[in-house]
Amino acid sequence: MSAPQPPEPIPGARLLFSLDPAVSHLNHGSFGAVPIGVQRAQQRLRDEMEANPPRFLGPGLAERVTHSRRHLAAFLGADPDGTALIGNATTGVAVVLQSVGLRPGDEVLTTDHGYGAVGFSVDRECRRTGATHRTLPVPLTATDAQVVEAVRAGLRPGCTKLLVVDQLTSATARLFPVAAIVAAAHGHGVPVLVDGAHAPGMLPTPVADVGADFWVGNLHKWGYAPRGTAVLVVAPPWRDRVEPLVVSWEQAAGFPGNVEWQATLDYTPWLAAPAGLWTLRTLGVDRVRAHNAALAAYGQRVLADALGLAPTDLPEPGGPTVAMRIVPLPAGLATTVDAARALRIRIAERLAAEVAVSTWDGRGWLRVSGQVYNSPDEYERLAARLPALLAQR
Ligand SMILES: Cc1ncc(COP(=O)(O)O)c(C=O)c1O
Repeated sequence: MSAPQPPEPIPGARLLFSLDPAVSHLNHGSFGAVPIGVQRAQQRLRDEMEANPPRFLGPGLAERVTHSRRHLAAFLGADPDGTALIGNATTGVAVVLQSVGLRPGDEVLTTDHGYGAVGFSVDRECRRTGATHRTLPVPLTATDAQVVEAVRAGLRPGCTKLLVVDQLTSATARLFPVAAIVAAAHGHGVPVLVDGAHAPGMLPTPVADVGADFWVGNLHKWGYAPRGTAVLVVAPPWRDRVEPLVVSWEQAAGFPGNVEWQATLDYTPWLAAPAGLWTLRTLGVDRVRAHNAALAAYGQRVLADALGLAPTDLPEPGGPTVAMRIVPLPAGLATTVDAARALRIRIAERLAAEVAVSTWDGRGWLRVSGQVYNSPDEYERLAARLPALLAQR
């Protein structure tokens, strides 16, 4: 297998961001980065809001939010009437969990690739309702067909009231075959919530072909939107049953208004979010996706070489546009959540590089992303100094 080559840079793209140039920002996946033009668009909206709060937060706001929602939903291939803007994927998960009507004896099924906070949310809803949370192990090396089969075999029809599955996993940066998983679950009458937190902007048509009952995704990661911009997409049969976390003036409007309107909040991220998509389109959506995926693959290889790993030690992400890659850390490192957090901070402070570090399946993993503001030398610099840092236990 030939080593991946770094992609051609996208000229000028770095200048669109206000990121600290002294730091290698190799973790776009956790919190994104907002282009300067989008920051300005949001600031202009905030200025407008502060010039006259009652006017800004008055009746015209609903129309502006709807306009924004239509724009974002169209980009994702989602039905705008079945899409609610929300603050983040975590909120969307909580809305779904409390809307599916769990009862004692029911179970919620997740996989061991699921996002930690989503797992905690499932735990809490199960405690509240008397349901149980079961986590299905899925090997990192499983093929798509094996993943689907593992999930299908894990369903307990009649008992499994909701399957929660990630589209692109966080700790393992793996693209799951969610359309096939949804089809398998529906074959057994089990509704599915797809956690597409990383999908908007990174994956082409992440919603339309999946057919999930519920789908959540963040625009504030790969969609260049201000933080606090996410969507919850709900299939028609469920829309009347969706309950917001906070009841507000739009309760009687039903979905999506009842979920979207959450009393007095800063709605400017949602209104500025189309400017994020505009930035992405200006750079060229396909070009950005190809660049980012190729750079992440290059970064993974460079780090793996430095750590003495063979290509076969490296998990494949499962899709051509996946812009995050993981590298296994030496045994014994980052094997607990606290140790992973401490190592991430040590890398940030000592090596001036932001990466994600997680614990999965009993070992530590380092995740790097590729973005238009990154360059190959950032991964090379990290790779040159990482082994020595990891050797200092
Ligand atoms: C798979 C997955 N789900 C959910 C989330 C939570 O996103 P947020 O913090 O925006 O709610 C993340 C965040 O990285 C994630 O990776």
